[in-house]
Amino acid sequence: MKLPTVIAIDGPAASGKSTLGERLAKHLHFLYFDTGLMYRAVTWCALMNGIAIDDELQVSDLAERIQIDVQAPTVDDGRINDVFLNGRDISWEVRQPEVDANVSQVSTYVRVRTAMTIQQRRIGERGNVVMVGRDIGTVVMPDAGLKIYLTASVMERARRRYEETRARGQPANLEQIMRSMKRRDAIDSSRMIAPLKPAPDAIVIDSDDYSIDEVVMLAIDYYRNTCNNSEC
Ligand code: CDP
Repeated sequence: MKLPTVIAIDGPAASGKSTLGERLAKHLHFLYFDTGLMYRAVTWCALMNGIAIDDELQVSDLAERIQIDVQAPTVDDGRINDVFLNGRDISWEVRQPEVDANVSQVSTYVRVRTAMTIQQRRIGERGNVVMVGRDIGTVVMPDAGLKIYLTASVMERARRRYEETRARGQPANLEQIMRSMKRRDAIDSSRMIAPLKPAPDAIVIDSDDYSIDEVVMLAIDYYRNTCNNSEC
C-alpha cells in the first residue's frame, strides 16, 4: 500500500481545520490548500462590484470569469495561503466579516461550485497536498488517501473565531460570531449540492475533546496507519 498523497480535511467553520491542515502539510512537506478561500474570493469580488449576493446569475458569471490563485504564502504576516484575484493580493480582504456573512450563500450556487471544483481538482491531482474545505472528501477528491472530518461544538468554534479576530486587532462580538456561525452551518449542511457532511470513509475527530497538538498527533498516526510498510 502507498502513502496517501492527498489528505482531505473537512468540517464546519473554526473546527480547527486550517491549523491542523497547515501543521500536517508542514510535517509532510505537502502544499497546504484552503479551498474556502476560493469561495471567499468570489464573495469579496461580488461585494466589491456591487453585485447582489442573491443574484445567482451575476455571481455565477463573475465566478466563471475571474482568475483566483491560492498558493503557498509569500508574505510572513500570519497568513497561511496567498490569495490573488486577477493578480491582486486579497489574502486579508477575504477574511472580512462581510465575506463571512455572505460566503455560504455564494457557495450554494451550482455554477460557482463547478468552477471552483474544477480548479481545486487540478491542484489536488498534482498530489502532495493537504486540502481543507467542506466537500473535499465527498466531492472534490473522493479518492483521497486519508480523509478527516474535524468538528467541535458551536460554542467552542465561536469562541475560537472570537479569539482569532481579536488577536488580529479587529473588533469582535461573541454573540454575533455565534449567530453568523450557526447560520453558516445551517446553509452549508442543508444545501442541495455538496453539503457539509463526513465522507463514509472519513475519520471523524471532535476537537472539543482534544488540544490542537493532540489532534495533529492523532492525524499523523492515522496517516501512518494508512500504509503498512516500515518506512511510513
Ligand atoms: O475558515 P472557515 O471555516 O470559517 O470558512 P472557510 O473554510 O473559509 O469557508 C467559507 C465558506 O465557503 C464555508 O462556510 C462554505 O460555505 C464554503 N466552502 C464550501 O462550500 N466548500 C469548500 N470546499 C470550502 C468552503
